[in-house]
Amino acid sequence: MIFLSAIFECEAGLTSKMRERDKAMDTYLPAVKIGEVVRSLGAGRVVASNSPDFAVGDIVSGFTGWQDYVPINLKGQLNKLPPGAPLELAMSALGMNGVTAYFGLIDVGRPVAGETVVVSGAAGATGSVVGQIAKIKGCRVVGIAGGEKKCRWLTNEAGFHAAIDDKSEDVRARLMELCPKGIDIFFDNVGGDILDAALARLAMRGRVVLCGGIANYNATEPPPGPKNYLNLIVQRGRMEGFIVLDHMPRAAEAIGALSGWAHAGRLKNKVDVQHGLENAPATLRRLFEGRNEGKQLLRVAE
Ligand SMILES: NC(=O)c1ccc[n+]([C@@H]2O[C@H](COP(=O)([O-])OP(=O)(O)OC[C@H]3O[C@@H](n4cnc5c(N)ncnc54)[C@H](OP(=O)(O)O)[C@@H]3O)[C@@H](O)[C@H]2O)c1
Repeated sequence: MIFLSAIFECEAGLTSKMRERDKAMDTYLPAVKIGEVVRSLGAGRVVASNSPDFAVGDIVSGFTGWQDYVPINLKGQLNKLPPGAPLELAMSALGMNGVTAYFGLIDVGRPVAGETVVVSGAAGATGSVVGQIAKIKGCRVVGIAGGEKKCRWLTNEAGFHAAIDDKSEDVRARLMELCPKGIDIFFDNVGGDILDAALARLAMRGRVVLCGGIANYNATEPPPGPKNYLNLIVQRGRMEGFIVLDHMPRAAEAIGALSGWAHAGRLKNKVDVQHGLENAPATLRRLFEGRNEGKQLLRVAE
């Protein structure tokens, strides 16, 4: 048995899975039922153990759920992290979001140096890593994010070539201006109008990587389909969704590459840490209000 003091993540995708509970539906994960611990990844320090595999002080990560202390008695449920590993990094760029960004871009998007990559939700946990990997792969990278401050971070800190503020700018007009030869890869975290604007600018053989659609997670009616999908035919394009869980058997490959870039100073990581289990619902809401600056985490049991 292990008790863990933990930092855990607030993740928009899992939130939408929680909401499916209202409709009694499972999607790629079973719905969280009333009374169950809210599902999430977490990382922390072992504070008590009678297991030969884990000692007090070990730093571990795994599916902890939202709880102050996590009793864990299943072998294989936790991964040990190197001693002194920064928990925030393990929960963001080197965690599930980094792995999502890596396989979504590399395996699904298949970037080629010189191509133009556009990312929505670009200042967030997943989008910021996608854009930086695309740049490392020699692509020209345009990020779409909400607000001047996030856009400034993208171009000044994360090395994006350009950023579009979807709160104050005409996304379609700016894509015309910034992607004169079209978009080779659109990595979408948002959906809705932004997906439509990107579909309209798709380059020949362009790829649309469907990672998420947060603009519609709170919709009470089925959202309308993308208006500009016929451009996929004209441009011989491909639109493909993916789920990171399918890629987890190869997670070490992604984490190895991401760690190397982080240590070389080529991968900037931003986290937004809130405190206290009692603030979990409010912290989760920050994702839907665009108030998180980087990966949204909640630290508990300090
Ligand atoms: N396919 C997979 O396996 C997988 C795995 C992980 C995550 N995801 C998906 O990836 C996406 C990003 O997740 P994340 O955890 O990295 O979150 P995040 O990007 O760090 O945070 C969510 C961001 O979404 C934007 N947003 C919120 N409501 C919006 C709305 N109504 N319209 C447009 N933008 C809105 C906000 O950014 P702005 O302030 O910039 O608008 C907010 O900061 C989510 O859609 C998630 O479901 C998919």
